[in-house]
Amino acid sequence: MLPNYYQYYCPVKILSGSMAVSNIPFEMGTLGSKKAMIVTDRGVVGAGLIEIIKAAFSDSDKEIGYIFDEVPPDSSDRIVNKLAKIYKDTRCDCFLAVGGGSAIDTAKGANIVISEKTDDLLKLQGAERIHAQLQPMIAVPTTAGTGSEVTKVSVVYNEGAKVKMAFVSDKLYPNVAVIDPRMTMTMPPKITAATGMDALTHAVEAYTCLQKNPIDDALAKLAIDLIRKYLVRATENGKDEEARLGMANAALFAGISFSNSMVGVVHALAHSIGAVAHVPHGVANAILLPWCLEYNINKVPQFIAELSPLLGLSPEYLTPKEQAEKSISHIRNLLNKLNQISGLPIRLRDAGVTEEKLPKAAKIAINDGAVIYNPEEVSYDDALEIYKKAF
Ligand SMILES: NC(=O)c1ccc[n+]([C@@H]2O[C@H](COP(=O)([O-])OP(=O)(O)OC[C@H]3O[C@@H](n4cnc5c(N)ncnc54)[C@H](O)[C@@H]3O)[C@@H](O)[C@H]2O)c1
Ligand SMILES: [Fe+2]
Repeated sequence: MLPNYYQYYCPVKILSGSMAVSNIPFEMGTLGSKKAMIVTDRGVVGAGLIEIIKAAFSDSDKEIGYIFDEVPPDSSDRIVNKLAKIYKDTRCDCFLAVGGGSAIDTAKGANIVISEKTDDLLKLQGAERIHAQLQPMIAVPTTAGTGSEVTKVSVVYNEGAKVKMAFVSDKLYPNVAVIDPRMTMTMPPKITAATGMDALTHAVEAYTCLQKNPIDDALAKLAIDLIRKYLVRATENGKDEEARLGMANAALFAGISFSNSMVGVVHALAHSIGAVAHVPHGVANAILLPWCLEYNINKVPQFIAELSPLLGLSPEYLTPKEQAEKSISHIRNLLNKLNQISGLPIRLRDAGVTEEKLPKAAKIAINDGAVIYNPEEVSYDDALEIYKKAF
């Protein structure tokens, strides 16, 4: 059934395939840029991935102006402001983010600071505060998870308030997303599993949330189908190029999908437990996804049931709620499998969370923007109960 009204927008040029990185200098020319600021982290540098980027520039008239490799596991306002200052001082004219969601979101944050001619990202908190034309931005994801290369979202940790802030604007879409399987092949198994579960959570929440629409539904289904085929394969054998390309595309489709539909209670709770206990984003989503689907099951049994064939189950002659329960139990099976092969935690207690942190996280979660789109309302007691079940 079509919704009464929906909007859809994705202005990102997508390059996907082996050697896609070699087209970056050409794309910079199209964007009118000559000098790129690479935004990355030390893990990505250590994995040798910046060498692949440098090789792409070797025969071109475009240059790498600076390599900023100080992005922490979760981007922070302090690092964003530091990056913006260096970008200005080095007179770069485009952002080239090479990394996972943390690097891409740091570049997006610095782009806001530069373009709005301020010196502090926190001055631009709140809805629709970005009015300036942003600097060109090319994103090369090295994880297959966040989809930030095709989203209008930047998630930045506020070091003072100790919360994760989400900046959302149509201006935040990168100009170009470069999906090259060479860039994810070095990802360790546990990060592959966790970031892949982030992508699955994007697709599942996009498909089940209040703002779902037919275009995002189709993309979410494509993403789930690819994740079923390739997530375990990519986790078991990181050098499996077909599986890496499959997962990179899954993350991209899921990213486009949720950037329009938005997400729901899983992300609200994952952001908060991430802020309070520093659980990596993908790990938090992986742990919380089945519990949150159980929480939503009475509001959207049909939508959760429709995930069954995509997850590899044959539809049976069951009520929507019974079929939805099968979908959830199948997701639990996937988590158990990933736990066995990569050590991905499947309980909050195994991800470094202590029980006394849960009330604080629940308090923050109910004010997270993502809960607005969840099909079931979420109170403080509800959020705390989900955390306790997942503990
Ligand atoms: N903007 C969005 O739309 C969006 C959506 C979801 C999540 N996020 C945010 O993204 C962040 C998480 O990003 P992430 O899950 O991609 O992880 P990440 O960017 O934090 O990277 C995780 C770790 O993996 C390492 N790594 C990354 N790629 C590698 C590779 N190819 N080889 C070896 N090591 C590699 C990094 O060095 C890092 O240590 C969180 O802050 C989250 O809130 C943003
Ligand atoms: Fe996410």
